[in-house]
Amino acid sequence: MITNKIKAKDLIQPVFVKKGNKVKEAISSMPGVYKYSTDILLEETETLIKKGLRYILIFGVPENKDLEGKYAYEDGSVSAIAIREMKKKFKNLKIISDTCLCSYLKHGHCGIIGEKTKIDRRKTLNILGKIALTQARAGVDYVAPSAMVEGQVKTIRKVLDDNGYKGTKILGYSAKFVSNFYGPFRDVADSAPKFGDRSSYQLDYCDDRIALEKLKQDITEGANIIMVKPALGYLDLIKESKRRFNYPLAAYNVSGEYSLVKAGAALGYWDEKKIVFEIVNSIKRAGADLIITYHAKDLLRWMV
Ligand code: PBG
Repeated sequence: MITNKIKAKDLIQPVFVKKGNKVKEAISSMPGVYKYSTDILLEETETLIKKGLRYILIFGVPENKDLEGKYAYEDGSVSAIAIREMKKKFKNLKIISDTCLCSYLKHGHCGIIGEKTKIDRRKTLNILGKIALTQARAGVDYVAPSAMVEGQVKTIRKVLDDNGYKGTKILGYSAKFVSNFYGPFRDVADSAPKFGDRSSYQLDYCDDRIALEKLKQDITEGANIIMVKPALGYLDLIKESKRRFNYPLAAYNVSGEYSLVKAGAALGYWDEKKIVFEIVNSIKRAGADLIITYHAKDLLRWMV
């Protein structure tokens, strides 16, 4: 028997959106996940809303990349288009948008590269502010800064406030680790770093102290929801964060965690439905209020 304490309102469905019409592009490392154009995304989302979906997390996959992030912050950015259309159509859906640069920059890093191939913090914060503002203008409910640049929540909060978007909220990717579990996502978003890795800005998985500091810092800087990412290897931090801060908490059950489940199911190692319920209930039991998971669409179907 499957026991379950997850409700539809606990789930956030991540989606990938491209420009164009009638696009539905499969991704071999993530069976069941697609890149959609906005028109198809609207249809798919409508079906999920009927099954109780409350939150969606949008990742834009741009056609062009540069070295300064223009395609991420221009008014006609792929995520801004999707946000605008979604907002028009679905009044009760909470829309969250990823606020980062890795898919939009030629080198695949999450920030503007300055001297000696290091992230230029000041320039990156400036661009992140611009992206957040574009997304706010498009009507997003939450921006979700995930570049892991020091002070990103504080900067974005100020830009939003100064421009009359006090009501736009922030979901901070507060404790985001340098993880091998992001591999499949980088296939989808075409965002793998072309040189080096992300260890100068994402967190060391051996260090729980710094992770808890980052979670606390995001609360201080004005995040409305904080996050631990990935989820499964980091349940201790989900639990400790809830206990220490008692603050709205999301956990990101990331792409590699999803692909593992799918691969094992395809090989007949386990029953997909049973293992997914076990995973999401474990994340909830640890203390997550919201679970970002690519399994959301299946869970909604299974829970009806
Ligand atoms: C980076 C970003 C990552 C994910 C979402 N945004 C990680 C990375 O490439 O370092 C991963 C999500 C997933 O694996 O599902 N801005």
